[in-house]
Amino acid sequence: MSESLVSDLMEHALSAACAASVRAAVTLGLPEALGDAPATIDELATAVSANPEALRRLMRSLTSYGVFAEKGDDSFIHTEKSLALREDVPHSVKYLVLWCTEQWLWPLWGRLDEAVRTGGEVFTQAHGRRFYSQLHTEWPKSAKVFDLAMTQQTRLSAVTIADMLSLSGVATIADVGGGQGVVLGALLDRHPALRGFLLDLPDVVANADARLRPGGDLADRVRLVPGDCLEAVSADADVYLFKNILGVNEDDSVRILRNAVRAAKPGTRMVIVENFVDEDGPGRTLAAAMDLRMLLVIGGQKHTRAGLLRIAERAGLTVHDVRPVDSSLHMIETTAPM
Ligand SMILES: C[S@@+](CC[C@H](N)C(=O)[O-])C[C@H]1O[C@@H](n2cnc3c(N)ncnc32)[C@H](O)[C@@H]1O
Repeated sequence: MSESLVSDLMEHALSAACAASVRAAVTLGLPEALGDAPATIDELATAVSANPEALRRLMRSLTSYGVFAEKGDDSFIHTEKSLALREDVPHSVKYLVLWCTEQWLWPLWGRLDEAVRTGGEVFTQAHGRRFYSQLHTEWPKSAKVFDLAMTQQTRLSAVTIADMLSLSGVATIADVGGGQGVVLGALLDRHPALRGFLLDLPDVVANADARLRPGGDLADRVRLVPGDCLEAVSADADVYLFKNILGVNEDDSVRILRNAVRAAKPGTRMVIVENFVDEDGPGRTLAAAMDLRMLLVIGGQKHTRAGLLRIAERAGLTVHDVRPVDSSLHMIETTAPM
Protein backbone atom coordinates (compact mmCIF):
# COMPACT_ATOMS: atom_id res chain seq x y z
CA MET A 1 0.00 0.00 0.00
CA SER A 2 1.47 3.35 -0.98
CA GLU A 3 2.11 6.08 1.53
CA SER A 4 0.10 8.56 -0.52
CA LEU A 5 -2.93 6.27 -0.53
CA VAL A 6 -2.82 6.05 3.26
CA SER A 7 -2.45 9.80 3.62
CA ASP A 8 -5.28 10.38 1.12
CA LEU A 9 -7.61 8.17 3.12
CA MET A 10 -6.49 9.73 6.41
CA GLU A 11 -7.18 13.15 4.96
CA HIS A 12 -10.68 12.08 3.91
CA ALA A 13 -11.31 10.62 7.36
CA LEU A 14 -10.10 13.79 9.07
CA SER A 15 -11.91 16.21 6.77
CA ALA A 16 -14.08 17.34 9.70
CA ALA A 17 -10.98 19.34 10.67
CA CYS A 18 -11.34 21.33 7.45
CA ALA A 19 -15.02 22.12 8.07
CA ALA A 20 -14.33 22.95 11.72
CA SER A 21 -11.40 25.23 10.83
CA VAL A 22 -13.46 27.25 8.35
CA ARG A 23 -16.32 27.49 10.85
CA ALA A 24 -13.95 28.58 13.63
CA ALA A 25 -12.46 31.26 11.37
CA VAL A 26 -15.96 32.70 10.93
CA THR A 27 -17.16 32.34 14.52
CA LEU A 28 -13.93 33.84 15.87
CA GLY A 29 -14.32 36.74 13.46
CA LEU A 30 -10.88 36.29 11.86
CA PRO A 31 -11.92 37.49 8.37
CA GLU A 32 -13.11 40.79 9.85
CA ALA A 33 -10.15 41.06 12.26
CA LEU A 34 -7.63 41.03 9.42
CA GLY A 35 -7.61 44.23 7.40
CA ASP A 36 -5.73 45.25 4.26
CA ALA A 37 -2.34 45.20 6.01
CA PRO A 38 -0.60 41.96 7.12
CA ALA A 39 -1.12 41.02 10.80
CA THR A 40 0.96 38.84 13.11
CA ILE A 41 -0.45 36.00 15.18
CA ASP A 42 -0.20 38.12 18.32
CA GLU A 43 -2.13 40.95 16.70
CA LEU A 44 -4.82 38.56 15.42
CA ALA A 45 -5.01 36.74 18.76
CA THR A 46 -5.57 40.02 20.56
CA ALA A 47 -8.19 41.12 18.04
CA VAL A 48 -10.28 37.91 18.37
CA SER A 49 -9.44 37.12 22.03
CA ALA A 50 -7.72 33.83 21.26
CA ASN A 51 -4.76 31.88 22.60
CA PRO A 52 -1.85 32.81 20.27
CA GLU A 53 -0.37 29.28 20.14
CA ALA A 54 -3.73 27.65 19.36
CA LEU A 55 -4.54 30.35 16.84
CA ARG A 56 -1.20 29.67 15.14
CA ARG A 57 -2.31 26.06 14.73
CA LEU A 58 -5.72 27.06 13.36
CA MET A 59 -4.05 29.40 10.85
CA ARG A 60 -1.75 26.55 9.74
CA SER A 61 -4.84 24.49 8.98
CA LEU A 62 -6.69 27.34 7.24
CA THR A 63 -3.75 28.39 5.06
CA SER A 64 -3.36 24.78 3.90
CA TYR A 65 -6.80 25.21 2.27
CA GLY A 66 -5.99 28.64 0.86
CA VAL A 67 -8.07 30.44 3.49
CA PHE A 68 -5.63 33.26 4.41
CA ALA A 69 -2.00 33.14 3.36
CA GLU A 70 1.17 33.35 5.41
CA LYS A 71 3.83 35.86 4.55
CA GLY A 72 7.45 34.94 5.29
CA ASP A 73 7.66 37.04 8.47
CA ASP A 74 5.04 35.07 10.46
CA SER A 75 2.28 37.43 9.47
CA PHE A 76 -0.92 36.74 7.56
CA ILE A 77 -2.81 38.33 4.69
CA HIS A 78 -6.18 37.78 3.08
CA THR A 79 -6.80 35.50 0.10
CA GLU A 80 -9.88 35.47 -2.14
CA LYS A 81 -11.35 32.71 0.05
CA SER A 82 -10.77 34.43 3.40
CA LEU A 83 -12.16 37.71 2.03
CA ALA A 84 -15.36 35.93 0.93
CA LEU A 85 -15.91 34.95 4.58
CA ARG A 86 -16.22 38.60 5.63
CA GLU A 87 -19.77 39.72 6.30
CA ASP A 88 -19.31 43.08 4.61
CA VAL A 89 -18.28 41.98 1.08
CA PRO A 90 -20.81 41.91 -1.79
CA HIS A 91 -20.62 38.14 -2.39
CA SER A 92 -20.08 37.03 1.18
CA VAL A 93 -20.48 33.30 1.92
CA LYS A 94 -20.24 33.74 5.69
CA TYR A 95 -23.76 32.48 6.42
CA LEU A 96 -23.45 29.64 3.92
CA VAL A 97 -20.39 28.43 5.82
CA LEU A 98 -22.20 28.75 9.14
CA TRP A 99 -25.21 26.91 7.73
CA CYS A 100 -23.09 24.06 6.38
CA THR A 101 -21.44 23.62 9.78
CA GLU A 102 -24.24 24.29 12.29
CA GLN A 103 -23.50 22.71 15.70
CA TRP A 104 -26.57 20.46 15.60
CA LEU A 105 -25.46 18.92 12.31
CA TRP A 106 -22.23 17.34 13.58
CA PRO A 107 -23.76 14.44 15.56
CA LEU A 108 -26.04 13.66 12.58
CA TRP A 109 -23.05 12.98 10.31
CA GLY A 110 -22.02 10.23 12.73
CA ARG A 111 -25.32 8.51 11.95
CA LEU A 112 -24.95 8.50 8.17
CA ASP A 113 -24.65 4.70 8.08
CA GLU A 114 -28.02 4.48 9.86
CA ALA A 115 -29.64 6.85 7.34
CA VAL A 116 -28.18 4.81 4.50
CA ARG A 117 -29.52 1.58 6.00
CA THR A 118 -33.05 2.94 6.41
CA GLY A 119 -33.04 5.39 3.50
CA GLY A 120 -34.59 7.99 5.82
CA GLU A 121 -33.60 11.02 7.90
CA VAL A 122 -32.12 10.78 11.39
CA PHE A 123 -33.00 14.32 12.49
CA THR A 124 -36.41 13.60 14.02
CA GLN A 125 -35.11 10.86 16.28
CA ALA A 126 -32.20 13.04 17.40
CA HIS A 127 -34.27 16.17 18.10
CA GLY A 128 -37.85 15.01 18.68
CA ARG A 129 -39.42 16.96 15.79
CA ARG A 130 -39.10 17.22 12.06
CA PHE A 131 -36.45 19.64 10.83
CA TYR A 132 -38.50 22.67 9.68
CA SER A 133 -40.71 22.49 12.75
CA GLN A 134 -37.67 22.38 15.06
CA LEU A 135 -35.98 25.17 13.13
CA HIS A 136 -38.94 27.52 13.30
CA THR A 137 -40.05 26.77 16.87
CA GLU A 138 -36.86 26.03 18.82
CA TRP A 139 -33.93 27.42 16.89
CA PRO A 140 -34.65 31.01 15.80
CA LYS A 141 -30.93 31.81 15.46
CA SER A 142 -30.37 28.83 13.21
CA ALA A 143 -33.50 29.73 11.20
CA LYS A 144 -31.98 33.16 10.61
CA VAL A 145 -28.66 31.63 9.53
CA PHE A 146 -30.58 29.35 7.13
CA ASP A 147 -32.48 32.24 5.51
CA LEU A 148 -29.32 34.35 5.19
CA ALA A 149 -27.40 31.37 3.78
CA MET A 150 -30.06 30.74 1.13
CA THR A 151 -30.00 34.45 0.29
CA GLN A 152 -26.21 34.44 -0.08
CA GLN A 153 -26.30 31.32 -2.22
CA THR A 154 -29.05 32.67 -4.44
CA ARG A 155 -27.46 36.09 -4.90
CA LEU A 156 -24.81 34.33 -6.96
CA SER A 157 -27.35 33.01 -9.48
CA ALA A 158 -30.29 35.45 -9.25
CA VAL A 159 -29.05 37.81 -11.95
CA THR A 160 -28.19 34.94 -14.31
CA ILE A 161 -31.67 33.50 -13.77
CA ALA A 162 -33.19 36.92 -14.49
CA ASP A 163 -31.07 37.08 -17.69
CA MET A 164 -32.17 33.62 -18.82
CA LEU A 165 -35.85 33.69 -17.98
CA SER A 166 -37.79 35.26 -20.79
CA LEU A 167 -40.83 36.94 -19.25
CA SER A 168 -42.13 39.07 -22.09
CA GLY A 169 -45.93 39.21 -21.93
CA VAL A 170 -45.91 37.74 -18.42
CA ALA A 171 -47.91 39.73 -15.84
CA THR A 172 -47.38 37.62 -12.70
CA ILE A 173 -44.85 35.12 -11.38
CA ALA A 174 -45.04 32.94 -8.26
CA ASP A 175 -41.76 31.99 -6.59
CA VAL A 176 -42.66 28.84 -4.67
CA GLY A 177 -40.40 28.30 -1.65
CA GLY A 178 -38.77 31.55 -2.71
CA GLY A 179 -36.98 32.12 0.61
CA GLN A 180 -36.38 35.78 1.36
CA GLY A 181 -37.18 36.73 -2.25
CA VAL A 182 -33.76 37.39 -3.78
CA VAL A 183 -34.70 35.86 -7.15
CA LEU A 184 -38.13 37.49 -7.15
CA GLY A 185 -36.51 40.85 -6.40
CA ALA A 186 -34.08 40.41 -9.33
CA LEU A 187 -36.97 39.50 -11.66
CA LEU A 188 -39.05 42.50 -10.56
CA ASP A 189 -36.03 44.78 -11.05
CA ARG A 190 -35.59 43.43 -14.58
CA HIS A 191 -39.28 43.67 -15.55
CA PRO A 192 -40.88 46.87 -14.23
CA ALA A 193 -44.46 45.80 -15.06
CA LEU A 194 -44.12 42.34 -13.49
CA ARG A 195 -45.90 41.47 -10.24
CA GLY A 196 -44.91 38.56 -8.00
CA PHE A 197 -46.03 36.17 -5.29
CA LEU A 198 -43.47 35.06 -2.73
CA LEU A 199 -44.57 31.76 -1.20
CA ASP A 200 -42.73 30.19 1.72
CA LEU A 201 -43.20 29.08 5.32
CA PRO A 202 -44.71 31.81 7.57
CA ASP A 203 -41.52 32.72 9.45
CA VAL A 204 -39.58 32.96 6.20
CA VAL A 205 -41.94 35.34 4.38
CA ALA A 206 -42.23 37.39 7.58
CA ASN A 207 -38.47 37.96 7.25
CA ALA A 208 -38.47 38.49 3.49
CA ASP A 209 -36.04 40.98 1.99
CA ALA A 210 -36.97 44.48 3.21
CA ARG A 211 -37.54 45.63 -0.38
CA LEU A 212 -40.47 43.18 -0.67
CA ARG A 213 -42.07 43.88 2.72
CA PRO A 214 -44.51 46.74 3.40
CA GLY A 215 -42.64 50.03 2.97
CA GLY A 216 -40.07 48.51 0.59
CA ASP A 217 -39.67 49.83 -2.96
CA LEU A 218 -41.04 46.59 -4.50
CA ALA A 219 -43.79 45.98 -1.94
CA ASP A 220 -46.70 47.22 -4.08
CA ARG A 221 -45.81 44.64 -6.75
CA VAL A 222 -45.44 41.69 -4.36
CA ARG A 223 -47.87 39.52 -2.45
CA LEU A 224 -46.31 37.62 0.44
CA VAL A 225 -48.02 34.24 0.76
CA PRO A 226 -47.20 32.29 3.92
CA GLY A 227 -48.04 28.61 3.70
CA ASP A 228 -46.97 25.03 3.21
CA CYS A 229 -46.50 24.14 -0.45
CA LEU A 230 -46.82 20.46 0.43
CA GLU A 231 -50.44 21.30 1.33
CA ALA A 232 -51.28 23.90 -1.31
CA VAL A 233 -49.75 26.50 -3.60
CA SER A 234 -52.04 29.49 -3.12
CA ALA A 235 -51.27 31.75 -6.05
CA ASP A 236 -52.79 32.16 -9.49
CA ALA A 237 -49.83 33.26 -11.65
CA ASP A 238 -48.72 33.19 -15.30
CA VAL A 239 -45.40 31.51 -14.42
CA TYR A 240 -44.38 29.39 -11.41
CA LEU A 241 -40.75 29.17 -10.32
CA PHE A 242 -39.37 26.36 -8.15
CA LYS A 243 -35.74 27.07 -7.32
CA ASN A 244 -34.00 24.60 -5.05
CA ILE A 245 -37.15 23.52 -3.29
CA LEU A 246 -37.50 20.03 -4.76
CA GLY A 247 -34.72 18.74 -2.52
CA VAL A 248 -37.31 16.58 -0.80
CA ASN A 249 -38.07 12.94 -1.64
CA GLU A 250 -39.55 12.11 -5.03
CA ASP A 251 -43.17 11.79 -3.85
CA ASP A 252 -43.09 15.13 -2.02
CA SER A 253 -41.46 16.81 -5.05
CA VAL A 254 -44.32 15.53 -7.22
CA ARG A 255 -46.80 16.73 -4.60
CA ILE A 256 -45.42 20.30 -4.65
CA LEU A 257 -45.59 20.47 -8.45
CA ARG A 258 -49.10 18.98 -8.52
CA ASN A 259 -50.26 21.56 -5.97
CA ALA A 260 -49.03 24.28 -8.33
CA VAL A 261 -50.71 22.61 -11.31
CA ARG A 262 -53.95 22.59 -9.30
CA ALA A 263 -53.65 26.35 -8.65
CA ALA A 264 -52.65 27.26 -12.21
CA LYS A 265 -54.51 27.59 -15.48
CA PRO A 266 -54.00 24.71 -17.98
CA GLY A 267 -50.76 25.04 -19.94
CA THR A 268 -49.14 27.45 -17.44
CA ARG A 269 -45.32 27.70 -17.52
CA MET A 270 -43.57 25.98 -14.62
CA VAL A 271 -39.82 26.59 -14.32
CA ILE A 272 -37.67 24.36 -12.14
CA VAL A 273 -34.14 25.40 -11.16
CA GLU A 274 -32.12 22.66 -9.45
CA ASN A 275 -28.72 21.00 -9.16
CA PHE A 276 -28.32 17.61 -10.82
CA VAL A 277 -26.45 15.36 -8.40
CA ASP A 278 -25.13 13.16 -11.22
CA GLU A 279 -23.72 15.96 -13.39
CA ASP A 280 -20.01 15.61 -14.14
CA GLY A 281 -17.86 18.62 -13.43
CA PRO A 282 -16.36 20.68 -10.63
CA GLY A 283 -19.57 20.81 -8.58
CA ARG A 284 -19.92 17.04 -8.29
CA THR A 285 -18.35 16.55 -4.85
CA LEU A 286 -20.33 19.48 -3.47
CA ALA A 287 -23.62 18.18 -4.91
CA ALA A 288 -22.96 14.73 -3.44
CA ALA A 289 -22.26 16.28 -0.01
CA MET A 290 -25.42 18.41 -0.13
CA ASP A 291 -27.37 15.31 -1.15
CA LEU A 292 -26.17 13.38 1.91
CA ARG A 293 -26.89 16.31 4.19
CA MET A 294 -30.46 16.39 2.86
CA LEU A 295 -30.82 12.68 3.51
CA LEU A 296 -29.71 13.13 7.13
CA VAL A 297 -31.77 16.21 7.89
CA ILE A 298 -35.04 15.96 5.95
CA GLY A 299 -34.90 12.56 4.26
CA GLY A 300 -34.60 14.60 1.07
CA GLN A 301 -32.24 14.50 -1.84
CA LYS A 302 -30.54 16.27 -4.71
CA HIS A 303 -32.05 14.54 -7.70
CA THR A 304 -30.35 13.20 -10.80
CA ARG A 305 -31.24 14.73 -14.17
CA ALA A 306 -33.36 11.65 -15.01
CA GLY A 307 -34.94 11.77 -11.53
CA LEU A 308 -36.05 15.38 -11.94
CA LEU A 309 -37.45 14.72 -15.39
CA ARG A 310 -39.38 11.76 -13.96
CA ILE A 311 -40.74 14.00 -11.17
CA ALA A 312 -41.89 16.57 -13.74
CA GLU A 313 -43.52 13.84 -15.79
CA ARG A 314 -45.27 12.30 -12.75
CA ALA A 315 -46.68 15.76 -11.93
CA GLY A 316 -48.13 15.86 -15.45
CA LEU A 317 -45.73 18.53 -16.74
CA THR A 318 -44.43 18.63 -20.31
CA VAL A 319 -40.68 19.33 -20.42
CA HIS A 320 -39.63 21.69 -23.22
CA ASP A 321 -36.03 22.56 -22.43
CA VAL A 322 -33.17 21.89 -19.99
CA ARG A 323 -30.36 24.49 -19.86
CA PRO A 324 -27.42 25.07 -17.53
CA VAL A 325 -27.65 28.24 -15.41
CA ASP A 326 -24.08 28.03 -14.10
CA SER A 327 -21.62 25.28 -13.17
CA SER A 328 -24.04 23.73 -10.69
CA LEU A 329 -27.64 24.71 -11.54
CA HIS A 330 -29.97 23.79 -14.41
CA MET A 331 -33.21 25.38 -15.54
CA ILE A 332 -35.99 23.05 -16.67
CA GLU A 333 -38.77 24.75 -18.67
CA THR A 334 -42.07 22.92 -18.47
CA THR A 335 -45.79 23.55 -18.87
CA ALA A 336 -48.75 22.29 -16.88
CA PRO A 337 -51.18 19.91 -18.58
CA MET A 338 -53.76 21.50 -20.97
C1 LIG B 1 -33.11 25.53 -0.25
S1 LIG B 1 -34.18 26.82 0.15
C2 LIG B 1 -34.34 27.65 -1.39
C3 LIG B 1 -34.89 29.04 -1.25
C4 LIG B 1 -34.98 29.82 -2.56
N1 LIG B 1 -35.87 29.23 -3.52
C5 LIG B 1 -33.59 29.98 -3.13
O1 LIG B 1 -33.28 29.30 -4.10
O2 LIG B 1 -32.82 30.74 -2.54
C6 LIG B 1 -35.72 25.98 0.31
C7 LIG B 1 -36.86 26.90 0.66
O3 LIG B 1 -38.07 26.14 0.71
C8 LIG B 1 -38.80 26.56 1.84
N2 LIG B 1 -39.69 25.48 2.23
C9 LIG B 1 -39.34 24.29 2.75
N3 LIG B 1 -40.44 23.55 2.97
C10 LIG B 1 -41.50 24.30 2.57
C11 LIG B 1 -42.89 24.07 2.56
N4 LIG B 1 -43.39 22.90 2.98
N5 LIG B 1 -43.70 25.05 2.10
C12 LIG B 1 -43.17 26.23 1.66
N6 LIG B 1 -41.86 26.49 1.63
C13 LIG B 1 -41.02 25.53 2.10
C14 LIG B 1 -37.74 26.87 2.87
O4 LIG B 1 -38.22 27.70 3.91
C15 LIG B 1 -36.69 27.55 2.02
O5 LIG B 1 -36.89 28.93 1.91
